[in-house]
Formats: sequence, C-alpha cells, structure tokens
Amino acid sequence: MAEYKIAWLPGDGIGVDVLEAAKIVLDKVQLDAKYLPGDIGWEFWCKEGDAFPPRTIELLKNVDAAMFGAITSKPAKITATELAPALQNKGLTYRSPIVRMRQLFDLYICLRPCKGYPRNPLNFKEGIDLVVYRENTEDLYAGVEFAPVPQELADTLMKLAKPFAPFAKLPLDQYAISCKINTRAGSERIVRAAFEFAKQHGRKKITVVHKANVVRATDGLFLEAAKTVAKDFPGIKMDDANIDAMTMWLLKNPFNYDVLVAPNLYGDIISDLCAQMVGGLGFGCSGNIGKKLAVFEPTHGSAPKYAGQYKVNPIATILAVKMMLDWLGESRKAVALEAAVAQVIKEGKVRTYDMGGSSTTLQMAQAIAEKL
Ligand code: NAI
Ligand code: MG
Repeated sequence: MAEYKIAWLPGDGIGVDVLEAAKIVLDKVQLDAKYLPGDIGWEFWCKEGDAFPPRTIELLKNVDAAMFGAITSKPAKITATELAPALQNKGLTYRSPIVRMRQLFDLYICLRPCKGYPRNPLNFKEGIDLVVYRENTEDLYAGVEFAPVPQELADTLMKLAKPFAPFAKLPLDQYAISCKINTRAGSERIVRAAFEFAKQHGRKKITVVHKANVVRATDGLFLEAAKTVAKDFPGIKMDDANIDAMTMWLLKNPFNYDVLVAPNLYGDIISDLCAQMVGGLGFGCSGNIGKKLAVFEPTHGSAPKYAGQYKVNPIATILAVKMMLDWLGESRKAVALEAAVAQVIKEGKVRTYDMGGSSTTLQMAQAIAEKL
C-alpha cells in the first residue's frame, strides 16, 4: 500500500489543539502516512510578513491531502505593530491564507456534511442529515474589492450604471465596492459535483440556494447553470430556494432537504446554520476539494480565548479526518472512524464543555480512538 503524504497545518490558536487530537485517531486507524508540518496563519504573518509562505505552497504541491486546523484572520487594514520590528512600516497587508489557498489550488468544492449523531445533546432535532456543496473560489470571495474606489471605476459606473449614479457621485473614499463574480463554468462544476455525490450516495434531492430574484445577473447565471447540469441527472430531483426563505424553511423542517448547493457566500451562511442544527462549531467539518488536492478542516476558527487550553471539542476535526480518509479511498477506515465517533456521542460518558461536560480535547480523541 502506498504511503500517503499528508500536509499538516495546525495554524493558530485551537487549530493546534484540535490537530493534536486528530493525530491520536489517525495513529489508531493506522493510516500509512507521513505527516509533513507546514506554516500558515496569523502568527507567521507577524513573524515573517506572509501568512502563507512559499515553502507551504511548495509543500501543498507535493502531498496527497492536507489537514488544516484554523487560523486567526484580521481585516486587511491593521496597525502593523503586531509585526516583527524589522517588518513594520513596509505597508504589508494581511490576506486570508485560506481564501488564497482555495484559489491557488483551485479547491472549488467546499463540502460540508451536517449529520446529527444520535443522542448528541446539542442536536436541534434527531435524524438530521444534510450535505452542503458550497462553491469555493468565486462569488463575493473573488477578492476583487475597492476601498477607496479608483477614479476610473467611478467614471465607468457613472457611464454604465445610471441607476447607481448617486454612489458614484460621492467622494471616492466614501463608498467601497466588492465584486460578486460568478462564472458559468464555475457554477456548473460545483452543481455537477453535488449531483455526482447525490448519485453515488443514493441521495434524492438537490436544492439550489440563491437570490436570483434580486441578484439577477450572478445568481441568475448560477441557477441557469444548475438547470443545465440537472438535465444530465434525470433520476435526481432538483428544486431551488432563495437564501432568506431557505434559512426559515431549513429551521422549520430540515427533513425536507437533502443536498444543498450554493454560490460561495450563501453556502457559507447555510452551512453554519446546518452545522448548528447538528451540534454547532464543535461538529462542523469541511473539505476544500479540487482535482489534485484536498484540504480538510473543522469549520470553526482559532477561538483565541481557548487557545492551548485543550478544552474545545475535537469532533469537528475528527470528522474532517473521516472526510480525508474517504477522499483518499480509505473507506473502511472512514466508516470505522465515524462509527467510533457516533458511539462515543451516544454513550455520553465523554463530553467536552460545549456538550455540557468537562472532558478535554485529548480525552475526547482518546475515547474515540479506544472504540477503533
Ligand atoms: P471561532 O470559530 O474561532 O470561535 C467562536 C466560538 O465558538 C469560540 O469562542 C467557542 O466558544 C466556540 N467554538 C469554536 N470552536 C469550538 C470547538 N471546536 N469546540 C467547542 N466550541 C468551539 O470564531 P471567532 O471567535 O469568531 O473567530 C476567531 C478567529 O478565527 C478570527 O480571527 C476568525 O477570523 C478566525 N476564523 C478562522 C476560520 C478558519 O480558520 N477556517 C473560520 C472562522 C473564523
Ligand atoms: Mg464560515
């Protein structure tokens, strides 16, 4: 059996705690792998002025998959006093390394399964099993933003977008523009990925989430692309809903839904809602998946107030490990790991603080490892 190369990117804060927990279960399932550490995140930005250094990019070019903890992100405009003295006053700005990684490696699928394991005290209702396919490289996350607005863009707006002329008459630093960019190819491939998943896993329905009645150009294109792709999958039902209505209906009856597919921002929103229904941030796992590379992570951030305390729930990360095993084709190990997680949750003897218990991050990982 081939030895896998797995990039190991703890990042900041509790990213370190939860990846330590992930290693405990990976050792127990005996994945034949080499774990190659990589630097990423806010702390490296402070030390080196780069949150995603070239050596980490090189590392990711040469691995089968990556496990990623979490990073601390900051707005682009920050007072650079947290930077190492030699790097201060150089006009360095901070850019989220995750968004960069997704674009650089074309990790166009953000896959977020949201499954409620029986007797999790945090379940909103028992039996929820939703899967979110979020587009991961374009939409409002395309990274095309202007603040202040350049004069030429303001002039163009004045010329082309008459109804919005009042904005363009303002001083250039009194408004900002973030571009929502959706391509037909980008929309089609995420919808196709969702349909392929549904086909492979016997899922019955895809719901396309959008706001095409108001955001007509971009969301209209996404919806149209979805309808085109749906024709190739006659056995699977497709419907669609506006993002706002969707949040209400999901809460009202999550059992009406199965696989959800959405452009980047709506996918982010809807997957947090779905994650909350199955236990919250301690249970939300995520895969950033491209053709060559996939990076798995919990959906939560670095939770600085808990950093290094080994207090947070590692289940989100352990479920991300399960997703990685699936992606590597190690389905027997993936099934065993998920069963171990489910059993520990069901028994309810080991619970982290969010579940109403006082077990530590590593005790939870150990309890899961013991079931393997
Ligand atoms: P967060 O997700 O880090 O934490 C918010 C709160 O949720 C925590 O204070 C804690 O009460 C709870 N929580 C999070 N993970 C948990 C776990 N595993 N078990 C139990 N409880 C858990 O969000 P926050 O505080 O808004 O952001 C902190 C930093 O993380 C920010 O800089 C943010 O930009 C960044 N962030 C990074 C992400 C990533 O690396 N993918 C995703 C989201 C936020
Ligand atoms: Mg999010």
